[in-house]
Amino acid sequence: MKVDVLLGLQWGDEGKGKIVDVITPKYDIIARFQGGPNAGHTLEFDGTKVVLNTIPSGIFRPHAMNIIGNGVVIDPVTLQREITNLLKLGVPVKDRLYISRKAHLIMPTHPILDAAYEKAKGDSKIGSTLKGIGPTYADKIGRSGLRVGNLGGSSFQAAYNNIREKHLQTLRLLDYTDPELAEKEQRWLDAVAFLSDYHTCDSELVINQALKAGKRVLAEGAQGTLLDIDFGSYPFVTSSNTITAGACTGLGLAPQTIGEVFGIFKAYCTRVGSGPFPTELHGEAGEELRKLGHEFGATTGRPRRCGWIDLPALKYAIMLNGATQLIMMKSDVLSGFEEIGVCTHYQTAEGLTDVLPFDLAEAKPVIEMVPGWQQDLTGMTSIEQLPVELHNYIAFLEKHLEVPIKVVSVGPDRTQTLYR
Ligand code: GDP
Ligand code: IMO
Ligand code: MG
Repeated sequence: MKVDVLLGLQWGDEGKGKIVDVITPKYDIIARFQGGPNAGHTLEFDGTKVVLNTIPSGIFRPHAMNIIGNGVVIDPVTLQREITNLLKLGVPVKDRLYISRKAHLIMPTHPILDAAYEKAKGDSKIGSTLKGIGPTYADKIGRSGLRVGNLGGSSFQAAYNNIREKHLQTLRLLDYTDPELAEKEQRWLDAVAFLSDYHTCDSELVINQALKAGKRVLAEGAQGTLLDIDFGSYPFVTSSNTITAGACTGLGLAPQTIGEVFGIFKAYCTRVGSGPFPTELHGEAGEELRKLGHEFGATTGRPRRCGWIDLPALKYAIMLNGATQLIMMKSDVLSGFEEIGVCTHYQTAEGLTDVLPFDLAEAKPVIEMVPGWQQDLTGMTSIEQLPVELHNYIAFLEKHLEVPIKVVSVGPDRTQTLYR
């Protein structure tokens, strides 16, 4: 069997959590491959709304095994909180969750370093979620990180103290202190003790053996392609490979095991944090999108910046990921706009192009206005009911993107999902 991958084609928050939950019945294993608690994946069903940060979005489906892969960075405190919330909802998490022994741990000093680095950057800050993601991946790549498999080992305490001391040295250099460090460390140790009851595994073996046995596996991305460490709008990116290739390294998959790649995008575009955003709307239309789309971060509550859809950026994302199918989210949010903007090209110093310039800040969007629709889509139950203007909008996007849009989402609930 092959592994299907679902990932974001924009700057995150495309609605990955919702769709993973919707399609989990088709899979035996759902595996997160990168990122950490900077992610906030929202699921809505039966009047319940849940935000998951580290746990894969298949956790509500009784049959599915959920794996946190080696490419993920884990904060034990956040993970404990997520598990506790799920237990309150009656989800038997212990039976469904497996954590890679090779996943790296976010230590209490990592988020503090994040805050110190951001403060030092001043106006050029990344707008990080401050969950310690960058510093943890830096330690991983710098070969001084701690992994889940180290917990409870005889050399754990010495290694922990060693890394902690290096972090404190850096914080002293940056003249940054956190008076709550001791409390945070105690909470972290308590969380580690709590998690010792949960399954750990060599997830690369579990997944590859499952594939051999004919099991169906879905890899769930976090963040989005334009936040990828290599191909995103660097340095305003996250610290992992958010693209399909990240599923290979983040789960231990050979490239030829990849099957379908579901590329997910909003019918418009949003971004949280700093960095270039060519199609951003600063006026009334941007406010309107934020209000109608409830565009506030699932993890940090920050208002998301909003703008029109960006086709050059989407084409780039489709190319990098090898997307085989597209999923368009939040179409309902565009209801009521007389006209909808679509960025088809950029104007750069070199002329008109549909290729992303090295510095995205130099891309001036060329916007084509297309007719909008007025109908409320949220109660529609089949694709035929969608207004003709939306059908035309989809056809227009498909013509440019050259990949079929197979799913159209018309609301946050599981049921508000239409198939083409
Ligand atoms: P993720 O990080 O990609 O999983 O996305 P988030 O959960 O951060 O953000 C997506 C937001 O949009 C959540 O609040 C979802 O409940 C909501 N959502 C998902 N799909 C739709 C949709 O089709 N329409 C509307 N109105 N909201 C949606
Ligand atoms: P999901 O999985 C949207 C953004 C932050 C910041 C930059 C770096 O829910 O789509 P980091 O915390 O990684 O140091 O932040 O990346 N960011 C996200 N934006 N959705 C996310 O995840 C994000 N995870 C990180 O806002 O600009
Ligand atoms: Mg999110």
